[in-house]
Amino acid sequence: MSFLATARKYRPQSFEELVGQEHVVRALRNAITTGRVGHAYLFSGTRGVGKTTVARIFAKALNCEKGPTPTPCQECASCKEITAGNAIDVKEIDGASNRGIDAIRSLRETITYPPARDRFKIYIIDEVHMLTQEAFNALLKTLEEPPPYVKFIFATTEPQKVPETIMSRVQRFDFTRLSVGQIVEQLQQITRDQSVEATDEALRLIALQAEGSMRDAESLMDQVISFAGASFTEQQVGEVLRVADRSYYINLFGALLHENAATAMRVFNKAKGHGISPRSFVKGFATFLSQALSLLLLPDEPDSGVAFSDVQKRSILAKGAGRTAQVLLLLDIFVEAADKAVSSSYPDLVVLAAVARASLLGSLADIDTIIHKLQGLESRPVMSLSDRSQPEPVTGNTSTTGNSSPPTGRPHQAQATTRPAPDKGLRLQQHNVVSHIVSTLDAQVIRVETEGD
Ligand SMILES: Nc1ncnc2c1ncn2[C@@H]1O[C@H](COP(=O)(O)OP(=O)(O)OP(=O)(O)O)[C@@H](O)[C@H]1O
Ligand SMILES: [Mg+2]
Ligand SMILES: [Zn+2]
Repeated sequence: MSFLATARKYRPQSFEELVGQEHVVRALRNAITTGRVGHAYLFSGTRGVGKTTVARIFAKALNCEKGPTPTPCQECASCKEITAGNAIDVKEIDGASNRGIDAIRSLRETITYPPARDRFKIYIIDEVHMLTQEAFNALLKTLEEPPPYVKFIFATTEPQKVPETIMSRVQRFDFTRLSVGQIVEQLQQITRDQSVEATDEALRLIALQAEGSMRDAESLMDQVISFAGASFTEQQVGEVLRVADRSYYINLFGALLHENAATAMRVFNKAKGHGISPRSFVKGFATFLSQALSLLLLPDEPDSGVAFSDVQKRSILAKGAGRTAQVLLLLDIFVEAADKAVSSSYPDLVVLAAVARASLLGSLADIDTIIHKLQGLESRPVMSLSDRSQPEPVTGNTSTTGNSSPPTGRPHQAQATTRPAPDKGLRLQQHNVVSHIVSTLDAQVIRVETEGD
């Protein structure tokens, strides 16, 4: 039995079967039903999101014996041949291997003959941005005044490389990346259909790795099945694709939030031991944190938390409850680390430092608060020497607002400072600490500067 890749086996054959891209489908359906089909279209978007698929469905819709119709019959010769990819009046040209002027010249010759059997002669040019400048120029003339029976559908992953002159003569549709939710649903349907058993977490991990491309998701799943067989878990997906499964991240998340540096380090080391690259690990964790953050901020939003199974969601919500600000700081640290890790020659050290820093977040925050407070004190007017020599009258009032009644019942001292600070002796001590810190820092700066000479 020959193996047919899932991505080919599950190519949607009708607009109804297509996942997402609703804006494109709506416009094309309307064009067909109102009889306002343009003569040239350009489909742009990242790999594996349905450009070629929609081009073929559109061709079917235009050439179906019972058409033009947004619901082609799938039974007539034209429909069947387009599905099989051998329709005589629908030509698929790969722009990458037919880049030159000659290809476009012969295309212009064939265009002069009307369709052999069907309503339209349809040219689907894939990766159209690969054409040479000369080829584009030759195409331009044809695009301007094509015979009424000719339709062009261009597809490209790099629309910015298509000349403006071409762009202004086509109707452009931008295909979007598919969401994790959309991909997971499609994978669920495919696994049911194929009697494959996969956990919810496993399919979500595959969908995340596909980065919006349905074809990538389907190919990754083929890869996992060929390794793990017709039943697989998230851990196996992680092993095959060499990425951290979510249990690593959930453990790391918990350890960092509770300042358990040892556990946090252990999680990272274990991932490294399993062959997960530090760059992939840290990028995955930054993404995890952003998803966890949106889950914490918008727990009821249907799309937030789509990256997680229900069990994972509960665990993240429990660990992160009341710690949203801390999660935000973690996100900051790991986005920066992920960026750094890309360009560093020592990505594992970058990640290690980030893990260490993040696990000390609580204590670092404390130091920040202390310095902040001390600086606040320092910026207040400092007492003069004469102030110091006169002991402050004891009022027993420790209020810092200065306007509550003194507990002794005595009238508020008229000469008391407008901001009755705590104890002046204490303030003096704090002032000295700040001065000491500042002068120590100064001394270090001077030393570094002179050493640098
Ligand atoms: N929107 C979608 N809905 C369902 N399946 C899809 C969708 N997009 C892609 N696929 C799956 O991915 C396969 C490849 O899709 P398609 O050839 O349409 O991608 P493409 O956008 O043309 O990509 P490329 O830029 O790489 O040519 C399809 O056969 C199908 O299995
Ligand atoms: Mg394509
Ligand atoms: Zn048909």
